[in-house]
Amino acid sequence: MRMYDIIQKKKENKALTKEEIRYFVDMFTQGKIENCKASALMMAIWFNGMNDYELNELTFAMAQSGDTVDLSGIDGFTVDKHSTGGVGDKTTLIVAPIVAACGGKVAKMSGRGLGHTGGTVDKLESIEGFSTSLDTEKFIECVNKTGLSVIGQTGNLTPADKKMYAIRDITATVDSIPLIASSIMSKKLAAGSKGIVLDVKTGSGAFMKTVEQSEILAEKMVSIGKAAGRKMTALITDMDSPLGKAVGNSLEVIEAVEVLRDRQHDELYELCITLAANMLMFVHKESFENCIEMAKKAVTDGKALKKLREMVAFQGGRAELIDDTSLFRKAEYIIPVKCEKAGYIYHMDAEKIGKVSVLLGAGRERKEDIIDHSAGIILCKKTGDQITEGETIAYLHTNNETITAQASEMYKECLEISDKKPEKRNIIIKTIR
Ligand code: URA
Repeated sequence: MRMYDIIQKKKENKALTKEEIRYFVDMFTQGKIENCKASALMMAIWFNGMNDYELNELTFAMAQSGDTVDLSGIDGFTVDKHSTGGVGDKTTLIVAPIVAACGGKVAKMSGRGLGHTGGTVDKLESIEGFSTSLDTEKFIECVNKTGLSVIGQTGNLTPADKKMYAIRDITATVDSIPLIASSIMSKKLAAGSKGIVLDVKTGSGAFMKTVEQSEILAEKMVSIGKAAGRKMTALITDMDSPLGKAVGNSLEVIEAVEVLRDRQHDELYELCITLAANMLMFVHKESFENCIEMAKKAVTDGKALKKLREMVAFQGGRAELIDDTSLFRKAEYIIPVKCEKAGYIYHMDAEKIGKVSVLLGAGRERKEDIIDHSAGIILCKKTGDQITEGETIAYLHTNNETITAQASEMYKECLEISDKKPEKRNIIIKTIR
């Protein structure tokens, strides 16, 4: 088999065979195919797409390109969730404890933040002492004892995806639905859970800017998961403004604790209850309505918060921070941003707000950047809110005094103020089962 012929075939919009796809994935992972040839194939896929058979085979080959996680030592039904990424997305910190409190087992591998989107691993590491690098034995022990565990990716998981993503990133081929679907689903399949709920974001802060694109991506991922024998649901959810009130690592953990204390009933709460209910449907085979009630009860009776505390303690974190979030280290500078014009917030540029939080120190522009866990933004006003001139619309938290003026200006540029009240967008746009 020759890579040249595989590229030629895809360039002519012909379907690749399982053997051709396996050849590319295996040889490229082993370093036996040059980056220029892999890039040419990525571009041919970008232009011509893949049929469902090719997409499944590509995903399975990528999932099997390295280690896979064996969760058979976990006593109970394992269920995972995945968000396609957004700004202020702290749902894992809320959803995983709710599901664990209701009898599901959440053994989750999460990522770090990059660019305008945050990562759950960074958020959890804002809890002093918390380790996100447990070995497999401890990971499984944590899930068996507490019902949940969240760690960073371990071992040599999906090396094909790492290599393919690296070349997509520099050849303008990231934004291809088959390449995104295979990238995400290969990691989810390798991570081993029996049930997977996908939170596919749409809007200004998301990868997919339109509902139509998000729906196609969600349907492809659900179909891949089902072909691999997993239980699958995808929600299309709104990411046109940041999720909840906090953006930034410790600020988001504090907000997650507030939700788990049943003190915040907003779109973040609604999304988390809905995600948890969909996961619980796999665990208990109950109706959606019953699972919603189960999830809400785990919050009101404090059991979900207790689960978060147990996981934090098991993974070496200072659990008192969960009991009293005022103990989290605060940023040195907390700067109010004042609105210069009265009206309604008509639109928020969520991606740009994510970039403001990176400027404040909360995120990374490059993989090797060090983040400041206490930095971030508290949003006092969001899309649809009425504001008066001079009112505080946000607080910027940072330890870097030199960027405060620039960050304030940039934050104001993220908001579109109008005399007109915008139409309310629902957080849950669609469910694909
Ligand atoms: N997230 C992934 O893991 N892969 C992609 O290709 C895009 C988003």
